[in-house]
Amino acid sequence: MRVLFFGDVFGKSGRQAVKMAIMKLKPEYTPDFIVVNAENAANGKGITPKIVEEFFDMEIDVLTTGNHAWDQQEGHECFTKTGRVLRPANYPDDAPVPGTGVVVVSSRHNPALKLGVILVMGRVFMDPLECPFSCGKKEIKKLHEKGIRNILVDFHGEASSEKQAFTYYVEGDVSAVVGTHSHVQTADERILAGGTAAITDVGMSGCFDSVIGMKKELVIRKFITKMPTRFEPAEGPGGYGAVVIEIDEKTGKAKSILRFRESVLKWEGL
Ligand code: FE2
Repeated sequence: MRVLFFGDVFGKSGRQAVKMAIMKLKPEYTPDFIVVNAENAANGKGITPKIVEEFFDMEIDVLTTGNHAWDQQEGHECFTKTGRVLRPANYPDDAPVPGTGVVVVSSRHNPALKLGVILVMGRVFMDPLECPFSCGKKEIKKLHEKGIRNILVDFHGEASSEKQAFTYYVEGDVSAVVGTHSHVQTADERILAGGTAAITDVGMSGCFDSVIGMKKELVIRKFITKMPTRFEPAEGPGGYGAVVIEIDEKTGKAKSILRFRESVLKWEGL
């Protein structure tokens, strides 16, 4: 089976790029599941019910988020409505946070095929939640006990080292660990000896002529003046960062991982 995963979708440019990328990649790679990190989809901050609906209309199966999960008040309801919009799993057990960080979905083409998706958030240079390592292990164990072997983890984190360490920590227990949050794609996609596909960061889907999605002039001004600056999403044609992971569904081991980073400007016919 194949899983198509898109990194952080940033604003309108990112949403359009993902829509076009799905149209382009679907016929060739026939993914059984599409998973998208959508935490910056609404103008760079959070999600809204309308945007979530648009994503599900594109036959996306699961949306993950991260530290921007709660940026839009109206988006909070999305985390409890379907169970397919994830917030990080590693909030404290007694924190009154809506939604879940784990879901098991069936393929819309073959209901017998199932994929478990887990979202955890790193603690280095981020708001520290509970330990993503122990939380991740605990959630993976629960899925194994339910007979789910095909598992994708989105590790939403800033530090490459934390993402790589987590990947080795769960090597062999999951089909794939994909990193998100930094918005800059890393070229280290690989299959570990234990059969886990890995990439430190899938990279952003959004306007590439920007500083991690924001208008570059505003970010430069902030760095130089240190004065409060309201950032705005960069506008213009976007691009996408994605991976296609092939998994042996009988064992849950990954067979291959293909990395994509493409600007829509390069596409023919646009
Ligand atoms: Fe993030």
